[in-house]
Amino acid sequence: MNILILGSGGRESAFAWKLSQSPKCDQLFIAPGNAGTGQYGLNINIKVTDFEGIKRIVLDRNVNLVLVGPEEPLVKGIHDFFLADDQLKNIPVIGPQRYGAQLEGSKDFSKQFMERHNIPAAASKTFTRETLQEGFEYLATIGLPIVLKADGLAAGKGVLICTTVQEAQQELIEMLTEAKFGEASSKVVVEQFLQGIELSVFVLTDGTHYKILPEAKDYKRIGEGDTGLNTGGMGSVSPVPFADAAFMKKVEERVIIPTVEGLKKENIRYKGFIFIGLMNCYGEPYVIEYNCRMGDPETESVMPRITSDFADLLEGVANGNLNEKELQISNKIAATVMMVSGGYPGEYLKDRTITGIENVRDSHVFHAGTYLDNENVKTSGGRVLAVTSLQVDLFTALQQATADASRIYYDGMYFRKDIGFDLL
Ligand code: AMP
Ligand code: GLY
Repeated sequence: MNILILGSGGRESAFAWKLSQSPKCDQLFIAPGNAGTGQYGLNINIKVTDFEGIKRIVLDRNVNLVLVGPEEPLVKGIHDFFLADDQLKNIPVIGPQRYGAQLEGSKDFSKQFMERHNIPAAASKTFTRETLQEGFEYLATIGLPIVLKADGLAAGKGVLICTTVQEAQQELIEMLTEAKFGEASSKVVVEQFLQGIELSVFVLTDGTHYKILPEAKDYKRIGEGDTGLNTGGMGSVSPVPFADAAFMKKVEERVIIPTVEGLKKENIRYKGFIFIGLMNCYGEPYVIEYNCRMGDPETESVMPRITSDFADLLEGVANGNLNEKELQISNKIAATVMMVSGGYPGEYLKDRTITGIENVRDSHVFHAGTYLDNENVKTSGGRVLAVTSLQVDLFTALQQATADASRIYYDGMYFRKDIGFDLL
C-alpha cells in the first residue's frame, strides 16, 4: 500500500523510518516532511491543514492510508473531511474524527469524559466568564498549588501552576476576561495539583480492539535537572522503569479499558492513537490529559522498540481487525536526546548549517526542524534533531545517545546531558 504521513517533526521522521521498513509499504509520502524524512520517502510540500492540497496528493499518488502526526489537522476535522468526500471516503485515516479529537482539543470535554467513565483524574471544575465568581470560590477550596488549564489548544502553553490563591485569581481573570490564550481560554478547567511522577502511555485502537504500545517518559524543561521553561520535549526514555507490570495492570484496568469502552458506549468512532498523560501518585495512576496522537519526542523512543510490522498494525486499525495483528516489543532500552536551537523555547536561531551527522556511531538521527538547502542540511525549527540509541541497558543507551549528539554540530546547538538519569 501507499502511505501518506502528515507532519514534519521528529515524530513523523520516526514513523517514516519505521514504515519504510515494512514489506507492506510500497510508496511512502510525507507532507510536508523535513530534510530527514526524504531519506525514507518522498516529501511533498503541503501544509497539514491544507485539506484540499492533501486530497490532491492522495488522488494523484494513489495513497491507500493516511497517518496523521500532529493534533491540529485532527482537531480541525481532517478525518471528517475524508469521510464527507466521495473520492476519499474509503481511504482510511489513522487519527480520530473531530468529535473524538476533543479528548485533546478540549480539556473540559476530556474531564467530563473521564468523570462519566470513572477514570481516575484530579478533581476539577470548569468555569467561564459568566461563572468567574464561582471560580473564585472554588479556588479557595481546592488546596495549593492550583492548576489552571485553558480549555482549547494553546500550543502547549495553556497550563498554569499557581502557588497562591491570589495568583490563581489573577490568572483566572486574565484567561477568562482578557483572553490570555485567545479563544482557547474562554473556558478554564481549575484542577487539583497531583503529586507524583509522570509518564506517557500510548494506545493504538481500531475503535473496538486496542494494543498498548511501549510507554515512555519525556523531559519537558529546557534546563538540566528539570529546570527552566517548558518546551515541546527535550528527550525521552522507553521503557519507564517504574511502570512495572503491577502498575501497567492498573493502568489497563482503570484507564485504558474504560477509555476504549467509553468511546464505544458513546458512539465515538475512534481509530488512531490515544496518548494518555499519566501521573503515578504513590503507585496509583491518574490521568493528567489525553492527546489524540503520538507524543514527540516519545515516538522517537517508541518506534525503535516495536519489532513487528507497523504498517500491518495500521492496516488492522483501518480494517477493524487490530486483534488479529501482532505487536512485538523489544526488551532493549531506547533513549532520545533532543538537539535544539540556541534561544529555544524563546526566539531561536535558524538557517544554521548542520554538520557531523555522518559521525554518529550507534544511534538513529531523526530529523525534526531541518530542511535541505542544496546539499546542506540546515536548521529551521526550535527542536532540530532527535538522537535515539537502542541498547541493552538504560545507562548505555543514555551514554550513547549523548555521545552521538556531541558528534553533531551547528551554531547555537544545545541539548540536555541529564535525560533519563533520574531513572538510573
Ligand atoms: P497538559 O498540557 O495537560 O499536559 O499539562 C502540562 C503539564 O502540566 C503536564 O505535563 C504536567 O506536568 C502538569 N500538570 C497538568 N495537570 C496537572 C495536575 N493536575 N497536577 C500536577 N501537574 C499537572
Ligand atoms: N511530549 C509531549 C507531547 O507530545 O505532547
